[in-house]
Amino acid sequence: MCGIIGYASPRSGRNVRDVLLDGLSCLEYRGYDSAGVAVANSSIAVHKREGEVSTLEDALPDRAPDGYAGIGHTRWSTHGQPSDRNAHPHTDCDDRIAVVHNGIIENAHTLRDALEADGHTFTSETDTEVIPHLIEKGLDRGDDVETAFRRAVDRLEGSYAVAAVCAGHRTIYATRQQSPLVIGVDGGRYFLASDVPAFLEYTDDVIYLEDGQFAAIRPPDVEVTDRHGGLVETDVETVDWDPEDATKNGYDHYMLKEIREQPHALRKCLRGRVDAPGRSVSIDAVEAITEPNHVHFVACGTSYHASLYAARLFRERGMRATPFLASQYDLDAIPIGTDTLVVGVTQSGETADTVSALQVANDVGATTLTVTNVVGSSATREADHAMYIRAGPEISVAATKTFVSQQAALAMLSSAFSGECTREFVTGIRALPDRIQSILDQSRAKAIAAEYADADAYFPIGRGSNAAAALEGALKIKEITYKHAEGFPAGELKHGPLALVTDRTPVFAIVDGDSEAETMIGTLNEVDARGAPVIAVTDCPETIEPHADHVLEVPETDSRFTPILATVQLQLVSYWIANRLGRSIDKPRNLAKSVTVE
Ligand code: F6R
Repeated sequence: MCGIIGYASPRSGRNVRDVLLDGLSCLEYRGYDSAGVAVANSSIAVHKREGEVSTLEDALPDRAPDGYAGIGHTRWSTHGQPSDRNAHPHTDCDDRIAVVHNGIIENAHTLRDALEADGHTFTSETDTEVIPHLIEKGLDRGDDVETAFRRAVDRLEGSYAVAAVCAGHRTIYATRQQSPLVIGVDGGRYFLASDVPAFLEYTDDVIYLEDGQFAAIRPPDVEVTDRHGGLVETDVETVDWDPEDATKNGYDHYMLKEIREQPHALRKCLRGRVDAPGRSVSIDAVEAITEPNHVHFVACGTSYHASLYAARLFRERGMRATPFLASQYDLDAIPIGTDTLVVGVTQSGETADTVSALQVANDVGATTLTVTNVVGSSATREADHAMYIRAGPEISVAATKTFVSQQAALAMLSSAFSGECTREFVTGIRALPDRIQSILDQSRAKAIAAEYADADAYFPIGRGSNAAAALEGALKIKEITYKHAEGFPAGELKHGPLALVTDRTPVFAIVDGDSEAETMIGTLNEVDARGAPVIAVTDCPETIEPHADHVLEVPETDSRFTPILATVQLQLVSYWIANRLGRSIDKPRNLAKSVTVE
């Protein structure tokens, strides 16, 4: 939700503009309402535009702006509509300071009123604009830039990652509070970003800033200090991501690339965790956790669907487990105790609702664990323990490879906690990458999408854990095709939703031959009687074919893994429908990848 990039080099003329624009393009999944850059020389050059980064790029003068230190921003609007005026960077009255910000300044109104009363003129509706004016006030008082920056930040209430540059200074000043910021280190030059993919092309050596820390990036040095100004020793860590992970690599869309990366992502997720068939599952985090009395999963959106899947697996193994929408967790009077394990499932590790739910759990002394893709993310800081899904960077706003990796990670977690690890489970989970590969190689999803791209609505259904796959399939369809889609546990169809079913509403039925076929055939007949096209996603095509218009086949497997395989078919269906409709697949309207506001 909003992306920040910064770049400071010991020499000017080192393509500051290109580094900033490349970084912003890699961060567009965090927001794409507007984009802007500011580069400091003796004065500050600010360029910003409503729209995507490409619109900004088209508007920039040739090879400009250039200089020693620059910052950029891609925005997902919270305060004020998308417009040139509201785009970041924001400046003070004299254009001496430029600031980019991610998060929400809760006391912006009060600060703005006081600054306006002092004669400061504002040009945007954003909360961010108070920051350059507060810094300006400090400079006018005689503070040096760093002191003015610190004092300005001291006045802010809320969540923020902030970066600023000042005319005549070759330094980027930055700080964070509940919003991510990471510094990329490459010899004497430095990058600053909300997320590593923004500079992965240049370096994989990083310093994660902690809440309340300040960085003065002044090549060839970077100085990190705590909120009182005390010097902080920082570790440079190397991230295990490949630069190619953050490029489209020949695909038209990140989403399709990421769908196709799923076998590779899963192999990384499983590596070292699932031993040879029939032996064991070992998860480092689990070894440190005392057996809980009750497991709560807290998550949003797609990650919530992974949690529905996980809770069911835990319960099948005899554990008490309940999934909760993170946004409802502290509103629903849920009993949490010191013997509760609260698992925050969040690919980004930054979703504000999920991080808050972990805070609620920590406050009452529960044990907390996050299952996430992002090392150093806010969820990893909040939770007592972390398990990484190792999916690599996911750029498309619609989650795909992180979802299947979450499911695999949570399935392993259920085995590690219960201590139950059958040969079928280990064989099934280890075979997932190859089985997904065979779906990717043979799927007929593109043809199905072509036939039904003009449908009125789509209804995925399934029973048991396939119901979670149905909900996820519907979410994928609606977010990238902008068409109505709703997933249901199949048994619910006749309790209301059947009224929506017509010959223009294809029903995607996930049918697991092991346990569900007979009951599902009854449901399919009800759907067929209303004239709706039935597309069965199934591992038992022979049984289902007489009751369906089309079959999307998934390989036979332990039925615990059928929802993962069915998900891949539904991802492909949604991708190809959206592609046919010419939608903005990687950046669907109104959405952003990390939702860092509650
Ligand atoms: C949909 C999607 C979202 C996220 C949700 C939570 O494709 O990606 O529904 O799952 O915003 O995000 P994380 O997992 O980062 O907490």
